[in-house]
Amino acid sequence: MSQQLPQNRHEHRHGADGSTRLDSYVDRYAARTQGMTASEIRALFSVASRPEVVSLAGGMPNISGLPLDVVGEAISDLVANRGSTAMQYGSGQGDPRLREQICDVMRLEGIEAHPDDVVVTVGSQQAVDLVTRIFCDPGDVVICEAPSYVGALGVFKAYQCDVVHVEMDEHGLVPSALREAIAHVQATGRRIKFVYTIPNYHNPAGVTLAAERRPEILEICREADVLVLEDNPYGLLGFDEEPHRALRADEADGVIYLGSFSKTFAPGFRVGWALAPHAVREKLVLAQESATLCPPSFSQMAVSAYLEKHDWLGQIKQFREMYRERRDAMVRALDDMMPPAARWNVPTGGFYVWLTLPDGLDAKAMLPRAVTARVAFVPGTAFFADGFGAQSMRLSYCYPTPERIREGVRRLVGVIEEEVELRHTFGTGLGTAPTPRTPGLNRGYDGPTTDLT
Ligand SMILES: Cc1ncc(COP(=O)(O)O)c(C=O)c1O
Repeated sequence: MSQQLPQNRHEHRHGADGSTRLDSYVDRYAARTQGMTASEIRALFSVASRPEVVSLAGGMPNISGLPLDVVGEAISDLVANRGSTAMQYGSGQGDPRLREQICDVMRLEGIEAHPDDVVVTVGSQQAVDLVTRIFCDPGDVVICEAPSYVGALGVFKAYQCDVVHVEMDEHGLVPSALREAIAHVQATGRRIKFVYTIPNYHNPAGVTLAAERRPEILEICREADVLVLEDNPYGLLGFDEEPHRALRADEADGVIYLGSFSKTFAPGFRVGWALAPHAVREKLVLAQESATLCPPSFSQMAVSAYLEKHDWLGQIKQFREMYRERRDAMVRALDDMMPPAARWNVPTGGFYVWLTLPDGLDAKAMLPRAVTARVAFVPGTAFFADGFGAQSMRLSYCYPTPERIREGVRRLVGVIEEEVELRHTFGTGLGTAPTPRTPGLNRGYDGPTTDLT
């Protein structure tokens, strides 16, 4: 007999054990929805966005410096002169002119690509989704850095992948740890579908993969016949350096490269892309068509017009200077105020500092007290699929002004000092077991996979 939907909101309110349920559809959802839990970031947004709270939590780019007049003119010109194309369905692969321009952008990182191998996506977030959709069956292994981008972990969970974390240090992913993790997983007969890595100005760890490690990482993956998924939304946002050479620049077959205009232009257009080997590109287009028919024509043409008409590289330079000033404000405030037992890295680009608390403190447990003290951060556990990271937190300096960043750190230090004090008073019961000092240091690769809470 076919199942019928509940006739009114009060049906199915009680589970088999008689407990009251808030969601009367709970027995009907697909198994994959069990991996879809609200991230710490999401739960935080409602409180952290109150004006009295200094949010060091979100990774929103600060786009106040964008030339809105130039963008406005480009868009009105688009509507007036090419409106009927811009407002029509487009190609599943994306606008051909934009794909050419994307190749120009990637050339800055040493990538020589053909527009035919580019698929435009709804932000690089959708590219992560489409790649996972075409490669991963439930139970397949995806290797990620420890910690890793919360949005990608969410995708991997939604497709019921097993995430295996691999240690990073201040120079990024550790090649020997990657080799070991791959060998370990393969020895257990499980399939690794790809290594997901953010080589530049990592979210959330703030570190960058050292140039000398890049060929080694590629070699390890080539030998083990494992694809690399290179996610690079921050690559052009280095503070004092030229863009790093992309992994994809030296390996066309084994790497799928993801890029985005969210951090270098504006996230609201939701335009990102994947550059993939030819056969994979075809599958990605099919997946894109089934997901959205086509990426939005209007957004793509607006981004294309902006690139055409504006000094976008000059704009990126301005962004870099603004973010460098904020990074400096964050690091200076940490240097001046943090207790000596706390540790953090100094990022050379991007948006994030990864801070590890004095031993025994738990960032997640501390968060409600921090919000009461009007400062917010993201607890480290959000960036691990296996519950690690409790002693760490991600601090974003991209959005608040330098003065607000300093004030936020001052409030955070107050909360940490209170926690340390409480711990001294009440002993060791307050915190959790110590977790690694540098991002992912000493992380095992076969820890249990638990849901994020
Ligand atoms: C590492 C990483 N990948 C992907 C994304 C998604 O970006 P978008 O979908 O806006 O291109 C983000 C956003 O913060 C990110 O930090």
